[in-house]
Amino acid sequence: MTSAGRRIDLVRAHVAPSERTTTTTTNEMYSASVLAAREDVARLLDDVKCHPILVRLAWHDAGTYDATVTDAAWPMRGGANGSVRFDVELAHGANAGLEKAVKYLRPIKARHPTVSWADLIQLGGATAIERAGGPKIPMRYGRADADACPREGNLPDAEPPFGDGAPDAATHLRNVFYRMGLEDAEIVALSGAHTIGRAFKARSEVTDFGYGAKNGTKFTGCPFMGTKMEGAMAGGCSWTVNWLSFDNEYFRRPADGKDEKDLLWLSTDRVLHTDPGFSPHFMRYAVDQDAFFYDFARAFAKLSEGGAKFVYDVKHYV
Ligand code: HEM
Repeated sequence: MTSAGRRIDLVRAHVAPSERTTTTTTNEMYSASVLAAREDVARLLDDVKCHPILVRLAWHDAGTYDATVTDAAWPMRGGANGSVRFDVELAHGANAGLEKAVKYLRPIKARHPTVSWADLIQLGGATAIERAGGPKIPMRYGRADADACPREGNLPDAEPPFGDGAPDAATHLRNVFYRMGLEDAEIVALSGAHTIGRAFKARSEVTDFGYGAKNGTKFTGCPFMGTKMEGAMAGGCSWTVNWLSFDNEYFRRPADGKDEKDLLWLSTDRVLHTDPGFSPHFMRYAVDQDAFFYDFARAFAKLSEGGAKFVYDVKHYV
């Protein structure tokens, strides 16, 4: 048996025999399982407000994809194959803090064992975006789970020196995203995901702001007042004031620099303003949220399919 054949059998081993009758039935049943898992993800989001970290988890699973490697079989080219759930990949520097997101998804995976990790991770990201106010994304499901991890170093660095030796942030972003088969407009649109979420000193070290209200900015002090998360996850530094709302605020940051010390701007965010290939898209999204949502949804769907191997054929707008 070829190694590729063996991997499909391993994935199929997760599927109950009663679900293996015909391809059509399997697709329908798989689709129902994905929809049931989506309900659980929605409940988790309502309870825990973990929208940003689920989006980051989906991006970090998919963003290791290297479409330029032609001599390695799946899953060694990386991509949306669930490998980020393994400790060895969670220990990659870029993934600091993401074990928490995997932990959030574990009970859902246990309740819906048919749904692959690779799908659950992408479903988590897409559902989080939509439920934070963002676009519905035309998602495809049926991904196989990898049993191996890609090499460390495929995800982008926020600040120089860049791991690929690029002389500046624009070159670095293009090196990383072109490798995934993504273009300039898609890089700008996807970076707009930073309209939600925060960075923490203990995770990425790109900010001095840390865990807890007293270590946060004036915008991240008490984000979960009145919920069961109250006091649990304050702190960090956000890119935007309303960092749990998915909108185009990332592209409308005040030009007067008023709240600059309380908001995050990485080198890889800043260059989207200044680089001639990126800035027209940045300006467009600042004045047209619909254009941002339209482009973001398609770019996220494309990102989420990079490097994936589909063993079922299921499509849902999430
Ligand atoms: C363009 C290159 C990118 C760089 C250099 C970058 C870097 C970072 C860094 C340093 C953090 C802070 C992590 C922490 O301290 O917890 C972060 C958070 C985040 N990133 Fe990115 N990122 C990039 C692109 C993306 C993309 C393409 C997406 C999604 C499509 C994304 C989604 C997020 C989200 C939602 C968070 C917040 C996570 C949270 O609040 O827990 N990023 N990113």
